[in-house]
Order: sequence, then structure tokens, then C-alpha cells
Amino acid sequence: MGSDPSEGPLATVLRGTNPWWAGSPGPAVPTFRRWCFRHLLGLLDGGLAPGILRRGPRRVGKTILVRQMIDTLLARGVAPSRILYVPFDDLEGLRRRADPILDVARWVETHVLGRPFNAAAQAGAPAYLFLDEVQNVANWSPQVKHLLDNHTLRAVLTGSSALRIEAGRDSLAGRVTTVELGPLLLREIAGLRSGFDLPPVWEGGVHAALRDPDFWRRAGRPATGRPATACLRSGRSPSSAPIRSPTGPSTRRGSRSPRS
Ligand SMILES: Nc1ncnc2c1ncn2[C@@H]1O[C@H](COP(=O)(O)OP(=O)(O)O)[C@@H](O)[C@H]1O
Ligand SMILES: [Mg+2]
Repeated sequence: MGSDPSEGPLATVLRGTNPWWAGSPGPAVPTFRRWCFRHLLGLLDGGLAPGILRRGPRRVGKTILVRQMIDTLLARGVAPSRILYVPFDDLEGLRRRADPILDVARWVETHVLGRPFNAAAQAGAPAYLFLDEVQNVANWSPQVKHLLDNHTLRAVLTGSSALRIEAGRDSLAGRVTTVELGPLLLREIAGLRSGFDLPPVWEGGVHAALRDPDFWRRAGRPATGRPATACLRSGRSPSSAPIRSPTGPSTRRGSRSPRS
């Protein structure tokens, strides 16, 4: 098999990071989706620029987002051969090549996709390239520029070194849309605690529920009385029990109807 170009070290590495080519699932990923997940999918589906650059420090969830996007594409029925994932923080041997991004792209075109990227796109089946921690490739931006200028495909890049990403980004003007990803937002932390996907605009009793220390102490665990998580679910404040007014009939606080 040594002389077969469809095998060899590059093939071994890529088959390992893209198990879906062989009909196997990728690693299990958390079900919780960060705020930008839907935005990123929208850009992937219909963004004007062919590339998305997701920039953020380490450990903010960039790789998990990539894996969630890949799972979503596979669940939609996108052919596994159209999806490539390369984690450049891991693969030192790959990074030592002169043009690793272009090498990988050419290999996939020939040995996995089975036709040029442009032919696949013209047939309505564009390839999706996910290049994780791309700043680890010394000359990443000229390679990505070449790829995007000469091939119709969708590329998602992640990068965590602000300096090395910034250095390459200028030459990609108009070719990539940059999405910044920071640490978890308060509503994401609350969502993780409660299991609910909180909307960006809070209505009803959500503010009040999050101000209640009980929510943070007991979210997700059985609680006596009316747990604050129930308030998130119903959109009603923890204090929404009838309040006795000294002058008139009882009123309720935070009793707007829940969001549908
Ligand atoms: N959506 C998520 N839900 C739950 N945990 C997450 C999520 N995203 C990231 N994490 C946690 O954070 C860790 C770092 O995420 P990762 O995607 O590897 O970050 P990055 O690629 O930005 O360095 C993961 O191992 C996981 O434990
Ligand atoms: Mg990562």
C-alpha cells in the first residue's frame, strides 16, 4: 500500500480526524449550543463571504462549535465526503509540510470528494472545510486566500492567537466574515445551569429569576417550593405569588405570559 497515494501518512491522519468518511461518528459533543451557533450556521448556509473566521481565546468552545456544525451538516444529509475537519493544533507532522492547507485540500479533492471542488459546487454539493486553530500553520493566510479565490467551497477557520490571526486577516478582506467568540455570557451560564436556551431579550420573570440566589444554588437540583428554574420555564418571577395590596384586590408581579 506504500505507493498508493490514497494511503500514506497524510491519509492516516485525515481518516483519523474525519471518521464520518468511513461511516463512523465523530466524538460525542455537548448538546448545549453557544449563542453564535445559529448565526454561524446562517453564515455557512448563505453568507456572502465564502469563509468564516471564528476568533477567540483557548477554551471558549471553538472546537465544540465546529463539531456541532459538522454534526448538523451530517444530520441534514450532507454527504460525509463533503466535510473535512483538520485540527492544526494537534498535527505537528502535517504542519511541517510547505503548504499543509493546500496539500490537504488537494488530497481530499482527489481521494475523498472524487471530483474538483468547483465541479462539486456546480452540482449543488459544495465541500465544507473546517480548519481548526489555523494560525498554527506558518503561512496560513496565503493558502486560504488561494483556496477561496480558486475554488467554490465553504471554509470555517478558527484561531486563538490574536496576533497571528490578525497578521493574516488583512489579505482575506472580503473573503471571510469574522465572528468573535469570548467567554460564556451570563445568559449562557444560566442556560447551562437550567438546561434552557435563554433568548437574548429577556421578558417576563427571567430577570427576577436570575436575581434570585436560589436559582444559582439549586438550579438543576430538586428544590423545595417554587425553584427558580421553574420561573425561567414559565417566564414568571419567583415572587409571582399573589401580593396582598392594602388598598385593592391582589395583584401579581412578573406574570406576563411566557414566550412561545
Ligand atoms: N457548548 C458547550 N457545552 C458544554 N461544554 C462546553 C461547550 N463548549 C465547550 N465546552 C467545554 O469547554 C471545553 C473547551 O472547549 P473547546 O471547544 O475545546 O475550546 P477551544 O477550541 O476554544 O479551545 C470543552 O472541553 C468542554 O468541556
Ligand atoms: Mg480547540
